[in-house]
Amino acid sequence: MTVGHIKLNTGALMPEIGLGTWLSEREGLLFETLAEAINLGYRHIDCAKIYGNQQEIGNALARINFPRKELFIVSKIWQNVHRPELVPGALDDILDELQLKYLDLLLIHFPYAQKPDVLTKDPTVDELENVPIMDTWRAMEALVDSGKVRAIGVSNFTRSVLEKMIPQCRIIPAVNQVEIHPYNQSPELVKFCQDNGIAVTGYCPLGGVKINVMNDDFVKRVAEAHQCTPAQVALSWALSRGIAVIPKTTNKLRLKENLKKITLSYDERHAFAQIKTHERKVDPGRDLKELKWVVHEDAECPLI
Ligand SMILES: NC(=O)c1ccc[n+]([C@@H]2O[C@H](COP(=O)([O-])OP(=O)(O)OC[C@H]3O[C@@H](n4cnc5c(N)ncnc54)[C@H](OP(=O)(O)O)[C@@H]3O)[C@@H](O)[C@H]2O)c1
Repeated sequence: MTVGHIKLNTGALMPEIGLGTWLSEREGLLFETLAEAINLGYRHIDCAKIYGNQQEIGNALARINFPRKELFIVSKIWQNVHRPELVPGALDDILDELQLKYLDLLLIHFPYAQKPDVLTKDPTVDELENVPIMDTWRAMEALVDSGKVRAIGVSNFTRSVLEKMIPQCRIIPAVNQVEIHPYNQSPELVKFCQDNGIAVTGYCPLGGVKINVMNDDFVKRVAEAHQCTPAQVALSWALSRGIAVIPKTTNKLRLKENLKKITLSYDERHAFAQIKTHERKVDPGRDLKELKWVVHEDAECPLI
């Protein structure tokens, strides 16, 4: 199946459907999943240091031996390597794990820093550190100059953080990867990014394992009308907004299902805005008020 593309501000084409890999090693099917995904037409693979499975992904990609230039490989640096002097080594580590010479896109995973020895996803306030985002970003810009990454971007960045960053950037982020599904639509953030030449990739496009968008009555009604699945409706709705999606599955049938794009009508697309449930999976400020600004536009970001 052929997958469409989104043109990045670098001129590169990013496949609009990618394969998420968080937790995808659990079933022991990573090689089979990647081999089948590439066979079906997936070219965009979303990785991250924190997922802890990049070595397995690297081994699988080496075995599959598909032409590197036809793949679009993304990874992300974790919060414990935001100090600018740690950024080049963090990229080298990712490239070693994935057995690659370059990445198509490297993202800052979250806009806050943790101390170098803190790997956790739920840091305490004492485990945070004050590294201005622009210091990290300038180190990311230098990676483009080194040729080891083709593009750089961000993840989980709000409009207010980007508004402060953009005037100071030599290289504008190519992508902002954020949580997007019918229960977390983020219309203002998406519009701001797209108006500023920043492509949006939606993670948890199916709601992840906890948010039940595929059981939503409206999503199910649209699926029935199109004789397709709720997953295809959720993905096609994001794609219709010009947002790339990176659904994760290790199930061969679902890999194929998630590649099939449905054409939603104008009315259907606009009716999504009427969905009343609002839930998000990723919210570091839920438990730590010092991080409230990460996803809440009204809280002031201290670290630019
Ligand atoms: N930047 C960030 O901070 C961030 C945060 C979270 C995630 N991500 C990235 O985004 C990717 C996707 O997010 P996610 O994995 O949390 O959630 P997701 O892709 O929205 O949902 C994955 C879940 O849906 C199931 N699934 C997949 N296709 C399905 C289908 N057609 N029908 C029914 N169920 C289906 C999967 O199970 P099976 O595997 O059993 O099919 C899995 O339980 C991640 O893998 C990761 O690469 C990035």
